[in-house]
Amino acid sequence: MIKSLKFSICIFVFGILLISCRNNHVTTSKSEAKKTGYYQEQYRPQYHFSPEAHWMNDPNGLVYLDGEYHLFYQYYPDSSVWGPMHWGHAISTDLIHWRHLPIALYPDSLGYIFSGSAVVDASNTTGFGTDQIPPMVAIFTYHNSILEKSGSNVFENQGIAYSLDKGRTWTKYSGNPVLKNPGIRDFRDPKMFWHAATKKWELIMAVKERIHIYSSSDLKKWTFESEFGAGIGAHGGVWECPDFFPVKVDGTNTEKWVMLVSINPGGPNGGSATQYFTGDFDGHKFVPDNTNIRWVDWGRDDYAGVTWSGIPGSDGRRIFIGWMSNWEYATMVPTTIWRNAMTIPREISLIGDKGNYVLISKPASELIKLRNQSDTLNIKTQSFIGEKEISTVGMSLMQIEMLFDFKLSDSGVDSVGIILENSLNERFIIGYSTVQKQFYTDRRAAGNSRFSKEFAGISTAPYSAGHALKFHLFVDASSVELFADDGRLVMTTLVFPSQKYNSLKMFSKGGATILNKAVFYDLQKVWN
Ligand code: FRU
Repeated sequence: MIKSLKFSICIFVFGILLISCRNNHVTTSKSEAKKTGYYQEQYRPQYHFSPEAHWMNDPNGLVYLDGEYHLFYQYYPDSSVWGPMHWGHAISTDLIHWRHLPIALYPDSLGYIFSGSAVVDASNTTGFGTDQIPPMVAIFTYHNSILEKSGSNVFENQGIAYSLDKGRTWTKYSGNPVLKNPGIRDFRDPKMFWHAATKKWELIMAVKERIHIYSSSDLKKWTFESEFGAGIGAHGGVWECPDFFPVKVDGTNTEKWVMLVSINPGGPNGGSATQYFTGDFDGHKFVPDNTNIRWVDWGRDDYAGVTWSGIPGSDGRRIFIGWMSNWEYATMVPTTIWRNAMTIPREISLIGDKGNYVLISKPASELIKLRNQSDTLNIKTQSFIGEKEISTVGMSLMQIEMLFDFKLSDSGVDSVGIILENSLNERFIIGYSTVQKQFYTDRRAAGNSRFSKEFAGISTAPYSAGHALKFHLFVDASSVELFADDGRLVMTTLVFPSQKYNSLKMFSKGGATILNKAVFYDLQKVWN
């Protein structure tokens, strides 16, 4: 009795706290963003998504409807460190220019709103809408911190909410939670999708270090189908934020299912990262092609990435966006009023390669629109050795897209790559080592790293390059994204130079390398 009285008092206090969160955040974020000029603070990404102010982590509820891409995200509107989670919300018609919308989902007496997904329920299977107005439905994890602190194991349960006005306002389902915790501490991050072959909704979620698959006819009642993950893939930490979708293998009629599973810690270069599996799925069970560990992105700063649902078949792309940070230091990075950004949107595809299916990530084609046509620079073929400075004639190196096409002609070459440098001799290096057969990024001396001892360091990614070596780079105010060899290998890295990088060098150590061609595009700002 006393216990339940205490519990009710806790719930009441929790409710009051939430109401005060709700009333404060909007004015705070707007006025703070204005102090330095809108999106003008040091390290503020100029063409990546970041919230106006305060804390952001995982992308959530990615769904496309009627020309709008919705991006919901883990958001704490009262501070720039993680706290009681809400779903922030933004929309875009081109994946690049985003409009901030009011918070979509607030915590309630069942808990904080953790990560999840969204779909358009086109046939109104939920009955939340009508045939004319099909509902948008979100599923998310209710994380009840009061229950967690009380020592209970069942503090994560799944709830749903729906919108009848294209995601602008949301109503939580009165029958929540729809998927109750069976007694497992980590039971979260549901991703749901329509499975055409069985004509059912399917859902996968992260359960400790496993994936559980469920099915449903109405998004409210879920039936357990199977478990995946024992003895397969990386297990250095808890599994989180899965995604699961079919992809046609390039140039064939073969369809394969791709499963993305984020893991923290246990990434290839420490902390958070996302692995993937390919295989077959019959609506009940996922049978992987192999049990190897494979990474979506080898860099330290791409986590919890998932893909949009609802993109029309006429477009046919599978578009991914990740959270551009790492739980090892995400709460400490030296930004001021906001913390953290998303990666650029990426198109995911599969190629067949020596009996394996390999995930390819390329910058979404919409990014081409950001190129300032008047500021394009082509560097001609040349052979170089040692470090060679490239003049970028006034282009900002902190807002640039660069393509380098190298030819490894000299067998003596042991490494080749690019250096971004500033007047304080801070330098960020991206290279390929022919000796170790790996790409690497080196941010040991790239700028500010005092905020966390985990930050500075070298990251590596095994890769067997042929004679041709391509680096496609997107640099923004505090990030560098590498797409190597047409998206076969990706490395996303945060950097916090004390001053902007203003010098660009190529290097070829141990012998000469031929630069076949390099192209630079000055990129536009999207936050005005
Ligand atoms: C991943 C994650 C999710 C969880 C959310 C909480 O970064 O830990 O598993 O739902 O963040 O904010």
